[in-house]
Amino acid sequence: MSLRKKSFVGCFVLIAMSLMILASGCSKEPEGDNDAKFYPTKKPSAVAGESIYVSECEKCHGASGAGDGEKAADLPEKPKAFTDLAFMRRETPEKFYEAILEGKEGMPGYEKKLNEKQRWDVLFYVWSFATTKTQIDEGKNTYFEYCKGCHGEKGDGEGTAKRSLAKKLQDFTDPRFMMNEDSDQFFSMVTQGKKAMPAFFKKLTADQRWDVINYIWTFVYTADK
Ligand code: HEC
Ligand code: HEC
Repeated sequence: MSLRKKSFVGCFVLIAMSLMILASGCSKEPEGDNDAKFYPTKKPSAVAGESIYVSECEKCHGASGAGDGEKAADLPEKPKAFTDLAFMRRETPEKFYEAILEGKEGMPGYEKKLNEKQRWDVLFYVWSFATTKTQIDEGKNTYFEYCKGCHGEKGDGEGTAKRSLAKKLQDFTDPRFMMNEDSDQFFSMVTQGKKAMPAFFKKLTADQRWDVINYIWTFVYTADK
C-alpha cells in the first residue's frame, strides 16, 4: 500500500472514530436539562415565603394576590392577579424568577434585597395562590392511584412500571426540568396522553387532572399550607 493510500485510510478511520465519540456524547445528554436559566439550589418553601411576601410584595400585589394592594392604584399598570388561573397556568417559575430578580415596569428587582433562597421561597408562595391544600391532597390521591406506577412515588420517573417503557421519564423533582414548564402543558399531556403516556380525559375529571398537576409541582417546592 502506498504511503498516500495509508494516510487516506488512517484519515478515514480517524473521522469514523470521532463521529462515534460525538454520537455517544450526544446520547448521554441528560433529557431533563432544557437549559433553564434559573433554578433553585435548595427546595423552596412557600410557607417560608409568606413573611417576605407580606413585607415586600403585598402593598402592590394584595394580601390574596389579586393585584389589589394599597399601592396598586398608583402603578402604571395593575399587577396581574396571581389568583387568575388562566394566567397562572401559562406561566413558568423561570419567568417569575426573572421578574423577581430583575423587576418589571412598576416593580423593583430583588437581586440585592433578597437572597437566592428568599426569592424562590416568595416565588412559590406566589405560585401557591393558584392552588389550595385540599386540591394538593386530592391530587396526591390521584397520583398514587394512577401515576405512581410509571412516574414513581417520589416523582423521579422511577416507578415499577417504567421498566417496560422505551423512554426515560422526566424527573419531576429536577428543578432544571420543572422550572421551565407550565401547568397548561402538563394538563394537555395528562388529558390527551402521548405515546406510552395514557390519556386521562375519560378516567379523570378536569378538576382531578388539575389537582394532580398541583400535586406534581410540590415535587419541587414545599407547600405546607
Ligand atoms: C411597587 C409595586 C410592586 C412591588 C413592591 C412588587 N411588585 Fe411584582 N409586579 C408589579 C407590577 C406592576 C407587575 C406587572 C408588570 C408587568 O406586567 O409588566 C408585577 C409583576 C410581577 C410578577 C410577574 C407576573 C407578570 O405579570 O408577568 C411577579 C412574579 C411578581 N411581580 C412578584 C413579586 C414579588 C414576589 C414581589 C415581592 C418580593 C413583588 N412582585 C413586589 C408591582 C410590584
Ligand atoms: C404507563 C405509564 C404512565 C402512566 C401510568 C402515567 N404516565 Fe405520565 N408519562 C409517561 C410517559 C412515557 C411520558 C412521556 C411521554 C412522551 O413525551 O413521549 C409521560 C409524560 C408525562 C408528563 C409530561 C412530562 C414530560 O415528559 O414532558 C406529565 C406531566 C405526566 N406524564 C403526568 C402524568 C400523570 C399526572 C399521570 C397520572 C394521572 C401519569 N402521567 C401517568 C408514562 C406514564
